Amino acid sequence: MPEEHRFLKACRREPVDRTPIWLMRQAGRYLPEYRAIREGRSFLEMVKTPELAVEVTLQPLRRFAFDAAIIFADILPLAAAMGVDLEFVAGDGPVIRQPIRSAADVGALGTPPVEEALDFTLEAIRLTRRELDGKTPLIGFSGAPFTLASYMIEGGGSRDHANVKGFMQAEPKAWYQLMDKLARMVGAYLQAQMRAGAQAVQLFDSWAGVLSPWDYREYVLPHVRRAIQIVRNGDGGVPVIYFSTMTGGYLPMLRELEADVYGVDWRIELADAWELLGPEVAIQGNLDPQLLLARPPAFQQQAQRILNAVNGRPGHIFNLGHGILKETPIDHVHALLDTVRTHPTNGGAG
Ligand code: CP3
Repeated sequence: MPEEHRFLKACRREPVDRTPIWLMRQAGRYLPEYRAIREGRSFLEMVKTPELAVEVTLQPLRRFAFDAAIIFADILPLAAAMGVDLEFVAGDGPVIRQPIRSAADVGALGTPPVEEALDFTLEAIRLTRRELDGKTPLIGFSGAPFTLASYMIEGGGSRDHANVKGFMQAEPKAWYQLMDKLARMVGAYLQAQMRAGAQAVQLFDSWAGVLSPWDYREYVLPHVRRAIQIVRNGDGGVPVIYFSTMTGGYLPMLRELEADVYGVDWRIELADAWELLGPEVAIQGNLDPQLLLARPPAFQQQAQRILNAVNGRPGHIFNLGHGILKETPIDHVHALLDTVRTHPTNGGAG
């Protein structure tokens, strides 16, 4: 068997030769080659055409040789598969014109077999694994139930999340039905991605931190746990990464999700996050993506601080605290990679 990838080793908190790094949204508009292939095509066309998705997944690896690939896809086609109308509007991001607003709307949502409804991403995973030929591990992903529900109820991005918060309080039965459907879909989707070849899976719960700890525990936590349990059924040891933002106030509770790796944003110091989560988990993060827009050396100094805070503990995967911004200069990504790749770890040759 070839030497295991440092990204997968770090997910299991095994010693590595150097800290692995990949960046959320590493495929996308900050890359000229992405903008070129996207020209004249819609975002959803890109996602739904496996050959294009494979190409775009590979683009950042050619340039930067990241330690992991993430399949080019999106979290919202799963919502579309359940029956909501989904569009991506230039400048506005995702728009759902008929959002979920009643128990009847929830009742009407389907839970179709993911192998058919989301076949394009599963096929893209199979093709990408073939192209990667064991050189770089491939991450699959899904939106987490709350973040998906938030888009489905708000009808798009939202500042205050008034509708989703109102819905869970006013219609708890319909909310649990919605979360039950989403947890089953998400679990099945990630399982199918693993069967197609995903070597790690990440749940994106980008909006989890808008809730109070009480509401997170009551309305969200059991359903994420359930999705992760479904994934664990017959997974063959595929690491599960739970990414959330603004959740520093309840990281100890997130430990109950039993993920292998926790993605944390920049609003918490990495050493504090690890203290709160405990030593049995790996951590992914947590540079503020905004810093990458400013000239060096500020982002390099911050990256050093993060690496120093790790203090040689096994199980750190360097990443941003959220997706890379489209204005990010390519040179800055190279400079960040240099900083991370030349940092000595205490992990030995592993
Ligand atoms: O990390 C990767 O490189 C894999 C690809 C990936 C995309 N979306 C591609 C994308 C991943 C992991 C996602 C996840 C995703 N999608 C999330 C969770 C992470 C997060 O950022 O919070 C969310 C909330 C979505 C929904 C979504 N998709 C939004 C809100 C938007 C518009 C915002 C924007 O940046 O324009 C998208 C579009 C999207 N998804 C793009 C890409 C490359 C830009 C599409 C384009 O215009 O070409």
